[in-house]
Amino acid sequence: MARLLLTLFLTALATRAADCFTPGEIWPDDKGVHINAHGGGVLFHEGRYYWFGEHKISGRGGNSAQVGVSCYSSQDLYNWKDEGIALAVEDSARSEIRKGCIIERPKVVYNAKTKRFVMWFHLEHYGKGYGTARAAVAVAEKVTGPYRFYQSHRPNKGEWPIGYDPDTVKDDKVSLLKRDHSKGQMSRDMTIFVDDDGRAYHIGSAEENYTLHISLLTDDYLRFTGKFVRIFPGGHNEAPAICKHDGRYWLIASGCTGWDPNEARSYVADSMAGPWKPLGNPCMGPNPRGGHGPEKTWGGQSTFLLPVHGRPGAFIAMFDVWRPRDPIDGRYLWLPVCFEDGRIRVTFPETWRIEDLDALANSVGE
Ligand code: GAL
Repeated sequence: MARLLLTLFLTALATRAADCFTPGEIWPDDKGVHINAHGGGVLFHEGRYYWFGEHKISGRGGNSAQVGVSCYSSQDLYNWKDEGIALAVEDSARSEIRKGCIIERPKVVYNAKTKRFVMWFHLEHYGKGYGTARAAVAVAEKVTGPYRFYQSHRPNKGEWPIGYDPDTVKDDKVSLLKRDHSKGQMSRDMTIFVDDDGRAYHIGSAEENYTLHISLLTDDYLRFTGKFVRIFPGGHNEAPAICKHDGRYWLIASGCTGWDPNEARSYVADSMAGPWKPLGNPCMGPNPRGGHGPEKTWGGQSTFLLPVHGRPGAFIAMFDVWRPRDPIDGRYLWLPVCFEDGRIRVTFPETWRIEDLDALANSVGE
C-alpha cells in the first residue's frame, strides 16, 4: 500500500503542471517522460507551439535515427504534450530515411500559400557516417504530421554565391566552394528562417563545416532558388540559430567540436545577405548548476531562437546539452535572451518565467 501511494505521489509530482523553466534538468512531458526532441525548433501555429526535434534512444546507436522526428505541443512553453512521431524512419533499404540514417536539427515552417507544413533537416544516408551532407525536406497537411519525405538536396548546384566571380575572387578559402560547385554544396547543421515578407532561408554549415551558407528557398519552401551568400569563410560555424529583432537579423552559432561544447558566437546584420558583423560570445554569467561556464556555452550548443508569441522583443535561446553515450538523456537549456549595447546576450538563471523577459526586453539600449 505504502509503495502504491509513493508511486502515485511520484507520478503526480512528475506530471504536475510546470510554471517556470528549469534549464538543464529532466523536463517531463504530459506523461511524465523526459522530452525527446533534441536539436529542435519550434513553430507557433494557431495558438499553440509545436516543438520538433530528434528522437533519440539510449546507447551509442541512439545518435542515429532509429525512430524519427518527434513533435510536442504546448500553449505556455512550460508544459508539453507528446504528439508522437511526426516523421518516421522507414525500413526499406531504398529509402533515403532508412532506419539508422542520421536525421538532425529538424525545423518546421508553415507555408501560407500552399497551406502545407514543411520540415527541413540535416540528412546523412544510412551507413555513410557524415559524408552525405544533404538538406532534406518532408511535408504534411497537418502540423503534427505525418510528414512525408519529399526530397533531399545538395544545395545550389551549379551556382555561385551572389556577387561572387570565380575568376576574380581573391580569397583563398574557396577551394571547397569550387570543389562542390558542380555537384551541389554540402549542408550539415542547419536552420530555417522565415522573414516578415514570407521569404524563407536555409542557413547551413557548408564546405566541410568551414563556412555558413545562407540560401533563399523557393516560394513553396521546398527547394533552393540558387541564390545564396557565404558568411565568414573559414569561420567554422555550426549550430546556427537566428531571429529578427528591431529590423535586424541576429545569429548565434557554435564552433566545430562535435558533441563537445565550445564557445558560442553571435552576429548581426541589417539584411540576410549581410554583411554580418561578429559580436562575440553571447553567453554571460555563471552556470547555476555547476559544470561548464559561459565560455563553453554552459555545456550546450545552440539550436533555435524562439520568438515568444504576443511579446515583441521576447526570445528564448534554445541549446542542447548532448549526452552522446546516452543520447536520450540529452538536456535542454532554454534561456532568456536580451539585446543590449548592440549585442545579443543570453544568461542562465536557475529557474525563470516568460514574464522575466519583459524586464530584459525593456533593457534594450542600442
Ligand atoms: C555537432 C553538431 C550536431 C551533430 C554532432 C555530431 O557539431 O552540431 O548536430 O552533428 O556534431 O558529432
